[in-house]
Amino acid sequence: MTSPVIQVQGIRKTYGRLVAVHDVSFDVNDGEIFGLIGPNGAGKSTTMECVEGIRTPDSGKITVLGLDPIRDVYALQERIGVQLQQAQLQKRIKVWEAVRLWASLYRKQPYVGDQLLEQLGLTDKRNAWFMTLSGGQKQRLFIALALINNPEVVFLDELTTGLDPQARRAIWDLVRGIRERGKTVFLTTHLMEEAERLCDRVAIIEYGRIIDVDTPQRLVARHCPEREVILVSDDGRAADAFARFASVTRDGSRYSIRGVGEELVADVIGSLSEHQIKVSDFRTVLPSLEDVFLKLTGHSIRD
Ligand SMILES: Nc1ncnc2c1ncn2[C@@H]1O[C@H](COP(=O)(O)OP(=O)(O)OP(=O)(O)O)[C@@H](O)[C@H]1O
Ligand SMILES: [Mg+2]
Repeated sequence: MTSPVIQVQGIRKTYGRLVAVHDVSFDVNDGEIFGLIGPNGAGKSTTMECVEGIRTPDSGKITVLGLDPIRDVYALQERIGVQLQQAQLQKRIKVWEAVRLWASLYRKQPYVGDQLLEQLGLTDKRNAWFMTLSGGQKQRLFIALALINNPEVVFLDELTTGLDPQARRAIWDLVRGIRERGKTVFLTTHLMEEAERLCDRVAIIEYGRIIDVDTPQRLVARHCPEREVILVSDDGRAADAFARFASVTRDGSRYSIRGVGEELVADVIGSLSEHQIKVSDFRTVLPSLEDVFLKLTGHSIRD
């Protein structure tokens, strides 16, 4: 069992009369990519910024790498990397200047800037002004800046918002690379696909409360165990072959077979093989984190 590098216990944060975060608790383990997921305004950035020591919770306890983010803020800053949701730089700062400026903020030997730019595919933009970078290049620069002090824990707030699918995939690979170098990544996203593909574990947050925490696979298995197989067969015996399944609907030669649990797909394949039934199409429909969110909250994350 790996030890938690971040421990959040019962934190609460209010802005005037608005309770943005109620009694939030979770742990982030060493070396994992942990995602806080939820809709706009759910309290993701507020929670993350309390963990980073940028905001002070009204109550509750937070430990990061054994440190208190408020009391030990300077010690902590040396060991974490932060990418903020609303980050901006001066229009005419050059990429290499930003990297050098950031490196100068840390006491310890900084990560080699050129090597970082190379890793993030920004070498040929070294001399470019910030304002001339594309959205994806800006995001990659912010990730580079978050990594400049070779941090043990990296915080990424909505890192792919506004990017196209291709740029998003490139960023996912970068984040996996951060984990491969042994670091812990704590990110927020309101993109369920991003959470599902990238995170080892996720906490679902809504209206400032954590609804559940687990691996994406276990969340799906726990809350949405339903499976569906859709297949097309012209074989007249198909209906008989599927008679043993509890829920079968037929539309001409198209069959939909529903059931609960992972055995459903294997059982359908077993029936096809037993009766030697040919199919011209075969698909499985598996629930996703999106479905889990819908089930737990009664609405889609985008509503
Ligand atoms: N500085 C602030 N002053 C007042 N209210 C705030 C402040 N920051 C956040 N809030 C409110 O707290 C709630 C949670 O905001 P937060 O930024 O944590 O949400 P989020 O989950 O990060 O949302 P998003 O997906 O839009 O980034 C929202 O209702 C927001 O309006
Ligand atoms: Mg936010």
